[in-house]
Amino acid sequence: MKTLKDYLNENVREESLKSVLISLENAIKGISVSVKTTSTGKAGTSNVYGEEQIALDVVSDDILTKELSENKYVAVIASEEKEDEEILHENGQYACCYDPLDGSSLFDVNLTVGTIIGVYGSKTFLGVKGDEQVAAIVAVYGPRTVIVLTVRMGTVEFTLKDGEFVMTNEKLTVDEGEMFAPGNLRACSSNEKYFELVKYWIKNEYKLRYSGGMVPDIYQILVKGKGIFSYPGYPEAPEGKLRLLFECAPMALLLEEAGGAASDGKERILEKEVEALAQRSPIFIGSKGEVLRCEEYMN
Ligand code: AHM
Ligand code: MG
Repeated sequence: MKTLKDYLNENVREESLKSVLISLENAIKGISVSVKTTSTGKAGTSNVYGEEQIALDVVSDDILTKELSENKYVAVIASEEKEDEEILHENGQYACCYDPLDGSSLFDVNLTVGTIIGVYGSKTFLGVKGDEQVAAIVAVYGPRTVIVLTVRMGTVEFTLKDGEFVMTNEKLTVDEGEMFAPGNLRACSSNEKYFELVKYWIKNEYKLRYSGGMVPDIYQILVKGKGIFSYPGYPEAPEGKLRLLFECAPMALLLEEAGGAASDGKERILEKEVEALAQRSPIFIGSKGEVLRCEEYMN
């Protein structure tokens, strides 16, 4: 059985990048244990977006920070749970950004949550584009713990078995198919274009598969090999809710590397320049044809 480490040895030339990805793998193993052992309670604090943090948000962020602090190749980190970027090693080569625990509001009801990570070969995040990522990872903490990874050689899946991540899909591929995960449906009341798009999906008898967690909602597109996830803006919040750096860009790279697409309704997510850590973006992500349809409806 091929492990994640075997895959990295075969496909990543730079020892430095390999080392950073192994640190991230270790952090994910740690978070997967914490998912089982941490209380579902609130932390009593809020993040930069004014969202109440749960204990596991803080624990997951701490695990990633600690693991990456011990890796000399990591220059800088940024987290959805931190206000500013944090310089770790002046001579480091990589910038790692993450949403340590996406879908926190689903944790108390025991639904699937995840970690989303982007890795850049830079010393800062400001001014980068998602397309500059050298790797992206999403970890899914469901009944199984899974890592979906790209080092820009396709999108690969590993499953945690007896303490080791082993390869369970060597090439995730996204084709076309009628399945939809429509986020932010409340936007339909003021965003007529989105309402029309949702009506198209319903009238054409698309299969509804929506959990309320971006990680499982997009992971299913990678596993089933088809579908669309959307989270548009609306007049009250034109850029929607999801963060470009921490959520949209890593997911976009994973989907594009699997043959899918990701757009903000106008342009490729991966071409958008990061102007602020907290920058948000609408997102339409999944099968290429479906993303194209979203762009048509939203314009
Ligand atoms: P979080 O990072 O605070 O958990 O928020 C992100 C989550 C996504 O997983 C999901 O797609 C979205 O928020 C759902 O938003 P809403 O609560 O507006 O339906
Ligand atoms: Mg999130």
